Amino acid sequence: MVANTLDEVIIQRQSAFPYAKGDLSRMLMHIAIAAKIVSREINKAGIIDILGEANNVNVQGEEQQKLDIYANNQFISAIKSSGICAGIASEEDDDIIILDDELSRNGHYVVCMDPLDGSSNIDVNVSVGTIFAIYRRVTEPGTKVQREDFLQPGNKLAAAGYVLYGSSTMLLYTTGLGTTSFTLDPSIGEFILTDERMTTPDDGKIYSINQGNFHSFPRGVKEYLIYSQETDKATNRPHSLRYIGSLVSDFHRNLLKGGIFIYPETEKNPNGKLRLLYECNPIAFLAEQAGGKATDGQGNRILDIQPTDIHQRVPLYVGSKKMVDKAEEFNRKFKD
Ligand code: AHG
Ligand code: MN
Ligand code: MN
Repeated sequence: MVANTLDEVIIQRQSAFPYAKGDLSRMLMHIAIAAKIVSREINKAGIIDILGEANNVNVQGEEQQKLDIYANNQFISAIKSSGICAGIASEEDDDIIILDDELSRNGHYVVCMDPLDGSSNIDVNVSVGTIFAIYRRVTEPGTKVQREDFLQPGNKLAAAGYVLYGSSTMLLYTTGLGTTSFTLDPSIGEFILTDERMTTPDDGKIYSINQGNFHSFPRGVKEYLIYSQETDKATNRPHSLRYIGSLVSDFHRNLLKGGIFIYPETEKNPNGKLRLLYECNPIAFLAEQAGGKATDGQGNRILDIQPTDIHQRVPLYVGSKKMVDKAEEFNRKFKD
């Protein structure tokens, strides 16, 4: 039987690991359930009272949207019901969420997540996402999780993925054996396999960055952007700037077509804006598993950065390998 739903693919792949107890599989299936629920709400957001601000500011100092909180609650309860996750670090919660019921406390995994990525786009009907990263805990099962369970470098990730609530709802994940994509068929409520093993072009013509921050970018980034706007003699065409403002959407387009996404240091965000644990690491893992590259712009692989805080921000250069290399070349050449 050709596996083509998410559950079938996960179960089929799990059988390749005789020692696997199915925990990770079950967690991914529970995440997919929450994704279906959030997708349904997003697709009728204009009808029910789930748009707009929740009159609440999160730890990032950002105005929480109602859908941020709704998505956060849905993913927390779905992950908790898997019974194998001992704790969660969420963008929407100041500190780690300790799942301390009998089942969860003995769980072997923890999850870092951005329940709703691209919040500023919710009210204008532009695609948004959910990003998740799954680690095996480092502390003893049966005890309460500690911050050290979450402060692991991305190279220790057991799995990572995202949901993209776009013209269709897609789910991508990796466990280190390639990046696989599924598309939700709402008529049957199943994620259907769309690409068993994605490969991203090693070069491209699309660059994604918030050009509005140009004057506060490091010199190397400014020079790279000027280079990108010159006509390429080989192809007689310049690059194209494509920027949606939802990391998942910008990254997904570039993954398929080739391109680079850059969120560098700015005056407002001297370490970049994106968070290492639940935005940069999972996106970097998916990129590398599809043959792409992800660094902090200074030659440091995102997945090798040792986190020191659960909401830590790092600069992110991610996408086609040759484009990341070219952007880094400009950073080296035009060091501030
Ligand atoms: P979130 O909605 O989870 O806070 O993430 C928003 C992030 C990311 O999705 C996007 O790439 C970036 O913010 C856009 O930032 P600017 O609006 O500063 O360009
Ligand atoms: Mn985000
Ligand atoms: Mn978010």
